[in-house]
This record gives sequence, C-alpha cells and structure tokens, in this order.
Amino acid sequence: MNHLLTTEGLERETLENLLTDADEFAEVLTRPIPKVPALRGKTVATMFFEPSTRTRMSFEKAAKALSADTMSFSPGTSSLSKGESLKDTALTVHAMGVDLMVVRHGATGTPWRLAEWLDIPIVNGGDGAHQHPTQALLDCLTIKQRFGSLDGLEIAIVGDIKHSRVARSDMFAMATLGANVTLVAPPTLLPVDTTRWPAATSTDLDAVMEKMDVVYLLRVQTERGGGSVFPSLPEYTNRYGMTSARFARLKPDAVVMHPGPMNRGVEIGHDVADYERALVLQQVTNGVAARMAVLFALLGGDSDV
Ligand code: NCD
Repeated sequence: MNHLLTTEGLERETLENLLTDADEFAEVLTRPIPKVPALRGKTVATMFFEPSTRTRMSFEKAAKALSADTMSFSPGTSSLSKGESLKDTALTVHAMGVDLMVVRHGATGTPWRLAEWLDIPIVNGGDGAHQHPTQALLDCLTIKQRFGSLDGLEIAIVGDIKHSRVARSDMFAMATLGANVTLVAPPTLLPVDTTRWPAATSTDLDAVMEKMDVVYLLRVQTERGGGSVFPSLPEYTNRYGMTSARFARLKPDAVVMHPGPMNRGVEIGHDVADYERALVLQQVTNGVAARMAVLFALLGGDSDV
C-alpha cells in the first residue's frame, strides 16, 4: 500500500491487517504512557481545506502516539488567500520535509492529484462526496470490537447517501468484510444509479430496520446541497430519524452509529446519541487507533499491510 485514497477495491486481507494493527494500537492507547517510538523522526502534515474537528485532531493524536512530528495547514490563514494554487501550496509544504500528508478537500479527487505531484504517501481525509477511508476503518473496528466480526451482519446506512463520502467508504469496506449493507434514504438522497455498488437500497427505514444489527446514521450534508431535496427537516426526521420510539423497535443487541458531527433531533434523537447502544464516542476513540494503523502501514510498518 503506497497511499490510502479509497476503500473501493481494497483487498479483504489489507483491511483485516489494518484492523488487527488498529486493535493493537487501541491497547497502546490505554497504557499509562500511550505512546510508542515507531515513527520517531517522521513528519506528518495535515492539510484540511474543509472544516474538521474529529478527523484532523485524531490524525494529530495518532501521529504523536507513534512519536512522529506533526504540521498543520489551515486555508483561512494561509497564502491561498493571496492566490497561491493548491499545487504550489502542496509543493511548498512538502519542501519543508514532510513524510506523509493527510488531505481533506471539497473537490473530489484532490488526494489523487497530490499523490501524482508528490513522492510521499497521501491519506485521503475526505474528498467532496467521494471517499473518507479512515472513517470506514474506524467504523469497521468499532463494529468488529462489538460483534467479533462483520461477516453476515445486517448494516443499514441511513440518510444523505448521495452526498456522503462516509457512506461510500463504509459501504465498500463493510461489504468487503462480509456484511450485508442496505442504503436507506429518501429517493432524492439516493444516487441515480447504485447498480455497481455492493449494497441493497431502500426508501423505507421502518420496513428494514427491525432486522438490522447496525443502523449507521448520516448527517444531511447541507453544504453539498443535501438539505434542498426534501420538504423540511421535521419531515426528514419523521421518516428517517432514529427517534427513541424507533430505537425501541430495534433488535435487542442492535447498535446505532454516527460519524459526527451530529445534528441531534434531526437524524438522531436528542437522547438516543447517549444510549449505551449508541457507539458514537467509541467511534471517535477508535479513530485514533485506526489512523495509527494507517500511518504505521504507510511510513514504518510491515509491507504486508
Ligand atoms: C464526516 C465528514 O466530514 O465526511 N465527518 C467526519 O469526518 N467524522 C461526516 C459529516 O461531515 O457529516
């Protein structure tokens, strides 16, 4: 593996090796000194051209837990506002001596461009509505810890599928690991053609949710136009929100997940997010371990991974 750009086409063995390493790093993070020297001397730069709380901080924590140094680029305070191009910005940061870049950008494909321009590993931290592979890894890790394996699990991904990079990354990774994935959304928030995707589709959450082991809720991506294709948010919640009444109808050991940021009261009930069977904060915790596994595989690790 030279880069981590997408989960589409990733081999099952690659995913499983990353999850095994992530599990070990999760243990490291519980130690009194949650740090190993694996990437001492390496520098990881986070280049986030779109807002982020979890993903950027989690990559920084992951890099530091592996003893790498971190650098962080923010567009608002950078020379982008003086007209510098993406390519010149990337070459400039690279010239300071960077061993790996994590990139988030609103334009689909940006991480692939960086991978062409620079001779260092690139990790996609989210490109437009396209891919967010480390989110998929941390989600699969969280499910694996809970259920032992993804094989044969019924997983619904619910909400703004059309504009969600999380849905795309998760669907490919989960299907490769043996889960049966159903994408659930209003017709206007489903992509026009999903026939090449390893997932079933439904427009009726109530009809499918009672057989689910995992119900994965998505935020409506208003910044990508997701809010303009249904009549109102209350109407969306009425049909697709995980209210406490819906939660009560799930299988007794079913869990609810969400990548954050949550809009409580819209896609997830105000109180549901705090239930023991809502794994939202475990997902965040696992994000650090999953990203450690990725950084380790790309910068210092075993070539099998
Ligand atoms: C997601 C993203 O940025 O794609 N957030 C995240 O990384 N945890 C989901 C979202 O913004 O809704």
